[in-house]
Amino acid sequence: MAEINSGALARTAPLYDRVKRVIPPLEWAVFADDVDAILELKRKRNAVVLAHNYQTPEIFHGVADIVGDSLLLAREATKVDADIIVLAGVHFMAETAKLLNPKKTVLIPDLAAGCSLADSITAQDVRLMRERHPGVPIVAYVNTSTAVKAESDICCTSGNALKVVESLGVEHVIMLPDEYLAQNIATQTRVKITAWKGHCEVHERFTPDDIRQLRENHPGITVLAHPECPPEVVAEADFAGSTAAMSSYVARERPPRVVLLTECSMSDNVATLHPDVEFIRPCNLCPHMKRITLKNIRHALETDRHRVTIDPAIAERARRTVERMLAL
Ligand code: 13P
Ligand code: SF4
Repeated sequence: MAEINSGALARTAPLYDRVKRVIPPLEWAVFADDVDAILELKRKRNAVVLAHNYQTPEIFHGVADIVGDSLLLAREATKVDADIIVLAGVHFMAETAKLLNPKKTVLIPDLAAGCSLADSITAQDVRLMRERHPGVPIVAYVNTSTAVKAESDICCTSGNALKVVESLGVEHVIMLPDEYLAQNIATQTRVKITAWKGHCEVHERFTPDDIRQLRENHPGITVLAHPECPPEVVAEADFAGSTAAMSSYVARERPPRVVLLTECSMSDNVATLHPDVEFIRPCNLCPHMKRITLKNIRHALETDRHRVTIDPAIAERARRTVERMLAL
């Protein structure tokens, strides 16, 4: 059992107050030492932690300076004036932050924090898609490698995909790599969408039957789904949107009982803010997001591991696709 640092426990008590609904006191007693050390390292090194909504509550509420969905993290990355950015999220998010901050040190605490969508397509695949559909613009989900972004025309996230597709003023676009996001957007626009066949390993597991059972077992429940879920799941949900949109929905509508069909930590993080809402939690874990821990964030700040680097030969073209999205 880890030794308890009572000084750290006392200093982090106000932070614990924020998460006490989802983290038992004994667990916080173990986290406090790392939280305290990370706060000190951030001050000393002029560093900030950007954390995705899927990070665990001790990271999200304990050490993060900026939290949000992929769109917000990309936008906020353009405004950071610290020397070091630690990206508590997956690799493509850290690459996006580095693209937007080429002169800053961007650290990812675990290099193996990948994404099944980003891994589903290569730059060569994008070139072949372009050859097969000459003149059709390519919209790359931000969940892609820098090399894939460099071969694409514009980026999108789940928070702005419809707006991006419609901003191009064309009748046909290619959306990659998430087939389900593309199909879900296709139900909302007249633009013809050709999709790649990538899937998120977390969201593809939800089924319409899960929703039917939830409605049977928890009468009156409001079902929110991420648009990476299959279209038949989105069709049965009450609302579909990005992680930030789901969080805003709960804040705005205050449903008495809700389920978020997405990654597990999302409910914990939102539940801490809304004690009046009952969260039902059948969720799926993202093994990549869960590679990020307090221990490896602390280690990143102590040792500068792992610095994100981008091949200069593709950086400029990839940056343009992200900036084109951010300019909308
Ligand atoms: P958001 O942009 O909605 O936060 O989604 C990112 C992601 O990886 C969802 O699985
Ligand atoms: Fe990728 Fe899915 Fe994990 Fe998001 S939840 S990082 S899309 S594997």
